[in-house]
This record gives sequence, C-alpha cells and structure tokens, in this order.
Amino acid sequence: MRNRVAVLHGINLEALDRRPAAVYGGLSFVRLETLIRRFASELRLDVSFFQSDFEGEYVQELHKSPDYADGLILNPGAWTHYAWALRDALEIAGLPAVEVHLSDVDDREEFRRVSVLEGVCIARVAGKGPEGYRDALSHLKDAFGG
Ligand code: DQA
Repeated sequence: MRNRVAVLHGINLEALDRRPAAVYGGLSFVRLETLIRRFASELRLDVSFFQSDFEGEYVQELHKSPDYADGLILNPGAWTHYAWALRDALEIAGLPAVEVHLSDVDDREEFRRVSVLEGVCIARVAGKGPEGYRDALSHLKDAFGG
C-alpha cells in the first residue's frame, strides 16, 4: 500500500515566523510541521520532511525522493515563480505531487502568479494556511487509491 508522503519545504520557509504576519499568520515552521504531522496521522499517511534554502540541494532531494516516498507535497517558496529546474526535477522524480502555498499567491504581487510546477502536479492548494496541507495530503491519499 502506498502511504508515504514527503513534504519538501523550499527557500525561506524555515523563517516563517519572521515573515509578515499579515500574510503568514505568525505561524512558526515547527508548528507548521506539527500540524502537518497531525493531519497525516488522521489520514493514516506516513509523512517525512525536508527543507533547504539551496536550490541544488532541493533538486537532489527530488531526485532521491522515489527511494523513500510515494507522493510529494511541494512548497518551494519563491523558487515556485522562477526556478524551472524544479519542474524538470519533479518530472524526473515521477511521483504524484501537490503544490501548496500558505498564502493566496494569485492575490499578491504579479510575479507570484507564475508557477514552474503548473501542469506537473495533480493539484494546487493556495491561500488556506496550514489547512492547505491537509487538502494536499487528501489529494495524495486519493491518488494512492484511498
Ligand atoms: C509561499 C508563497 C511564495 O510566493 C513565497 O515566496 C513564499 C511562500 C507560500 O507558502 O505562500 O516563500 O510559497
């Protein structure tokens, strides 16, 4: 049975509680991972976490991900909007993936409307805060066959 989900946090995510509270709700990174762990256990999914501020490291993790995960949740932070190598790396990984953003990227600055992951993820969740990760896990559970 497929149930292993890797959550790959990208650049600046670990500093969440130092970012504008009006956008990110003052949520800490530790709290975010605690919530995701809880959502995953409610859905009987096994979750693992990775975070990096280095694009090459993030790409290497995507390459490795099929060794330990059945599906991916990606919040690449600002890389989402310009780091095309992430799209290629996700194609190489070949796993079902969901793109997540805490904030409503379509209702912010123009540059945040572009996503390098468009068309290579099974779903995209944005603007729902940490709850968005519950939705993303749910999408993956469906993709695993319930
Ligand atoms: C973000 C949105 C991005 O535009 C931003 O650069 C981030 C966080 C989000 O979760 O809302 O770092 O991915």
